[in-house]
Amino acid sequence: MAQFLECRVCKKATDFKPETVCPFCFGPLEVAYDYPAIRQSLSRSNVESRPTTMWRYHELLPEVLGGTPTTPVGWTPMIRAKRLGQAIGMTNLYIKNDAVNFPSLSFKDRVVSVALAKAIDFGFDLVGCASTGNLANAVGAQASMLGLESVILIPDDLESQKILSAVCYKTRVIQVRGTYDDVNRLCTELTYREKIGIVNVNLRPFYSEGSKTVGFEMAEQLGWVLPDQVVVPMAGGSLISKIGKAFGELVKVDLVDQKPVKLFGAQASGCAPISSMVKTGAEELTPVVPDTLVKSLSIGAPADGRRAAETIRTSGGWAEDVSDEETVAAIVLLAETEGIFTETAGGVTVGVTRKLLAAGRLDRDALTVLCITGNGLKTPNVVAHKAANLPTIEAKYSAYKALGQPLEEKGKEHVGTI
Ligand SMILES: Cc1ncc(COP(=O)(O)O)c(C=O)c1O
Repeated sequence: MAQFLECRVCKKATDFKPETVCPFCFGPLEVAYDYPAIRQSLSRSNVESRPTTMWRYHELLPEVLGGTPTTPVGWTPMIRAKRLGQAIGMTNLYIKNDAVNFPSLSFKDRVVSVALAKAIDFGFDLVGCASTGNLANAVGAQASMLGLESVILIPDDLESQKILSAVCYKTRVIQVRGTYDDVNRLCTELTYREKIGIVNVNLRPFYSEGSKTVGFEMAEQLGWVLPDQVVVPMAGGSLISKIGKAFGELVKVDLVDQKPVKLFGAQASGCAPISSMVKTGAEELTPVVPDTLVKSLSIGAPADGRRAAETIRTSGGWAEDVSDEETVAAIVLLAETEGIFTETAGGVTVGVTRKLLAAGRLDRDALTVLCITGNGLKTPNVVAHKAANLPTIEAKYSAYKALGQPLEEKGKEHVGTI
């Protein structure tokens, strides 16, 4: 299948290579596909007959010379979120649960699966990333699986839990004094000075395509139907832009019917450059210095910020941001209602959904999907207060009974309905 890199600005074509900017005009490069040919050869039944991994859509992903990867990344659960819906007043709510993605429990496993496959194609023995935490784990895990050397650069203020898991992979973890944006600048320099494939720098055009599989899976799991509304957490702004691209591609290759889908972006108020851009109607993005406990979304100068804002605006959606307190309350609400324990980015998504509903931006009855992109076991610090005053009793029935009924405060009326 003919594929190439195309500049999003001047539209000139470049062969596949580990580069992120157009050699002619310095615009961003993106993978381009031969959609008419894909439409001829790809059908719903083809896709459905394939293994349940993100690579079942391989025609719409960068071609891998060594063959389509078989690592079981993606195909995460799509949950009908009735109880959360009842709690917040939505009647047709779903959760795309990437908190249980393989192997490192976040949607970043998808982007890394593509980036490392291309890194091998390009002959890199050493790969790396600039990370706010989840990407570090995804690169560490998959580099170990593939036998690649890896180096992970992170800001020096990340949650200890995220770093602990990252250091157990066969990787070199380096803490950099400064913000994610400082780390990113250093990584960009590394790609000029060393032979290294940095997944979100010189491999970014390939890496970012992996995010499309969230959108592909969403549509297939809804019965080859596009949702009406999607709420997506934003850091660099790539995920939301690529979910938009994925929906457009499914229509182009005739796998779903055309339908307007409103995309809603979610950020933490302490780092909300994209949400501010949408809310103020600004044409340019104003970078910020992050100040929030939502470390995974703490990117003050997002690489795809403008594109994310453009995607949201043209879809007819909106963006919003929430405080750290609202984020933590939303993490607990999701866990209480759906049994899904998410990290702070998921709290932002649920918190923003509530805020958008209150403002009348979201339709309560429309088919809505919330993207839960990371696992709560990575940021247990933010809910540690919940474990502070647990009842401790003697091993006697009377002591247990004296505590009262466990379900009393939570409301029993929905017990047993799925
Ligand atoms: C858990 C989680 N969700 C969402 C995002 C946002 O993705 P993007 O940077 O593509 O906007 C990130 C980015 O690091 C993340 O770690």
